[in-house]
Amino acid sequence: MNQKKEEILFAIDNLIEASEPAKSLFKVVELLKQSNPLYNWVGIYILSNEVLKLGPYIGQPTEHTTIEIGHGVCGTAVKECENQIIDDVRELDNYIACTLETRAEIVVLIKDGEQILGQFDIDSDTVNAFSKDDEALLMAAAEKVAPLIKDHSCSLID
Ligand code: SME
Repeated sequence: MNQKKEEILFAIDNLIEASEPAKSLFKVVELLKQSNPLYNWVGIYILSNEVLKLGPYIGQPTEHTTIEIGHGVCGTAVKECENQIIDDVRELDNYIACTLETRAEIVVLIKDGEQILGQFDIDSDTVNAFSKDDEALLMAAAEKVAPLIKDHSCSLID
């Protein structure tokens, strides 16, 4: 059973209040991961010096810790300044595979006004896993975490 959007957002508010920024971001990732069994890999990429750098994540380790703008689903989101919902990654020709099992992917930008700070990236092993409801949840979560990334981006990536 998936947790309700309002419950998840309430929990995010509480944990952001209770922890310092890096810990909060990890806990947000953890909470999102636990909220939906279709979310197999959940992470945050932070835009730093015009490249995406992997921040906190839960799921299989990935070698894609840096992604150029325009590359893959993540880099395309930044280039086009648009969230991405991919129903079946096997249909893409510029997909960057983290795991062979991944079938669907959603990327939702984390912004401060018009400025892109980073993004939520979620992979699922299930085709068609993501809908506009997932995008709405992640957009609301993005608004909540944006201030943490804005003020502390250097300390959030290795
Ligand atoms: N699939 C992404 C790369 C990041 S991994 O999913 C963690 C992409 O195509 O940009």
